[in-house]
Amino acid sequence: MSESTISPHRLAVLISGSGTNLQAILDAIASGSLQAQVAVVLSNKADAGGLERARQAGIPTEVLDHRQFDSREAFDQAMIDALTPYQPETVVLAGFMRILSPVFVRHYTGQLINIHPSLLPKYRGLHTHARALEAGDSEHGCSIHFVTEELDGGPLIAQARLEIVANDNPDSLSNRVQIREHQLYPLVLQWRAEQRLTLDEQGVKLDGEALPEQGYQVP
Ligand code: GAR
Repeated sequence: MSESTISPHRLAVLISGSGTNLQAILDAIASGSLQAQVAVVLSNKADAGGLERARQAGIPTEVLDHRQFDSREAFDQAMIDALTPYQPETVVLAGFMRILSPVFVRHYTGQLINIHPSLLPKYRGLHTHARALEAGDSEHGCSIHFVTEELDGGPLIAQARLEIVANDNPDSLSNRVQIREHQLYPLVLQWRAEQRLTLDEQGVKLDGEALPEQGYQVP
């Protein structure tokens, strides 16, 4: 098969906000370090800044306002219906701030990945930077995991750590964590593009080998 007939790995990226992780993914694709294509960007918010980034890159966008649906399940089914024509191989949650129901999570089992701004299992949910500071932690970071029905609780793929220093505040920590996020997501998605990263009954595997419980640790 000639190279031109191999189509790049298809991503659907789900956002609710500014989309700096989406931008990092687009930049990695543009630079050739991520051999994938963003087939669609979907947002539950019409004013999400990331939608403009997608439009600038010529990527189709879908907006579904969750408030227009009677139930979480109905919204999730509508998202599946909106994404299906784009045939995503990996669904990437990049600051998508809605809890997903089993309807969505089961449909994309093994294909659904999230990034979270803490060293999971610490600090699931919101305000992760303030909580790490309040706890007096000496380190913090971000995690990428396969999504299961447990909120921020799916099996870990990778983590990037950073030191908390004197005078850190939630904003300074958030800025440093985001820099690590922007490196980590393209790396993990490239593993998916190369068909090296899978989830099965035994857990997360990279190149057929089980990853440690905390995932691959980026130096
Ligand atoms: C990221 O820091 C991501 O880790 C976080 O939202 C931010 C989105 O930023 N996600 C969560 O908190 C999910 N629980 P972005 O829109 O600039 O990529």
